[in-house]
Amino acid sequence: MSAMLEVRNATVTFPRPAADGGRLTAVGGATFALQAGEILGLVGESGCGKSSLGRAILGLVPLAAGEIRWRGRRIDTVPREAFRPLRRELQLVFQDPAASFDPRMTIAESVAEPLRALVPQLSAPDRAARVEAILGEVGLAVELAARYPHQLSGGQLQRAGIARALIVDPAFLVCDEPVSALDVSVQGQIVNLLARIRRERGLACLFISHNLAVVAHLAERILVMHRGRIIEDGLRDEILQAPRHPYTRTLLDSVLAVEPVAARRLIAARPSSRDAVAAPELTP
Ligand SMILES: Nc1ncnc2c1ncn2[C@@H]1O[C@H](COP(=O)(O)OP(=O)(O)OP(=O)(O)O)[C@@H](O)[C@H]1O
Ligand SMILES: [Mg+2]
Repeated sequence: MSAMLEVRNATVTFPRPAADGGRLTAVGGATFALQAGEILGLVGESGCGKSSLGRAILGLVPLAAGEIRWRGRRIDTVPREAFRPLRRELQLVFQDPAASFDPRMTIAESVAEPLRALVPQLSAPDRAARVEAILGEVGLAVELAARYPHQLSGGQLQRAGIARALIVDPAFLVCDEPVSALDVSVQGQIVNLLARIRRERGLACLFISHNLAVVAHLAERILVMHRGRIIEDGLRDEILQAPRHPYTRTLLDSVLAVEPVAARRLIAARPSSRDAVAAPELTP
């Protein structure tokens, strides 16, 4: 069986800020595959190219070289306007929920937006029913639907961000630092929510974070990225117990040094695919 998502030698470049005509290589030839229902972690320090890779998979930035296949079909060459049917299958959860919501729209309106755009034939009452159901699924009280983004906490807003991505019933989510803008006390709740949703829906996910402990809590397999390259690709337990690359060791040591208690708890209390709901809610 071929993988659901195959990324081969994906290369992303940007013009250099100095405008000398040169280009900066944000992603230098990334290769990996992701199976249906798999949560793949992508970890690395700030600026190493994680978001560029995630955005390239979603057709939001072009590849300079390489290819991306979704269910066997090449998608990196699909023009933006033809990407729409794919957008139902491949969705994004943003880092900063406050910045990703339009302040003039209610939560219900924002969450309904992808449905309006991608499933325009759906009637307004059907759309409202879908919004209500999805808000329940992510644990948001129905009263919050009529509120505006500034009236919600960061954690509530990220739940709404997840609802907005899920409402079109995607098969694959790119979660780009979905908890790093949140208080540590809320991070575990959102990670656990993603684990439960993934289990219940059989969703595949590329989970991006600079924090190896957060990635290790959720992912079965982890890619470690360093300066635009994937330097390690292995099962979570192999990577935690016997990292092959010295840089991975550095990432592990740094997270344990900076947040020893929270990090150890995240790493230890990993929800397995069977008992994610029973995993403890994480507190700092
Ligand atoms: N739109 C852009 N234009 C120019 N350069 C960019 C653009 N987006 C990213 N870059 C550059 O590409 C490199 C990789 O950035 P990217 O945002 O992919 O890293 P990241 O790993 O997601 O970092 P972070 O953890 O801070 O989110 C960086 O040097 C960044 O400055
Ligand atoms: Mg990023």
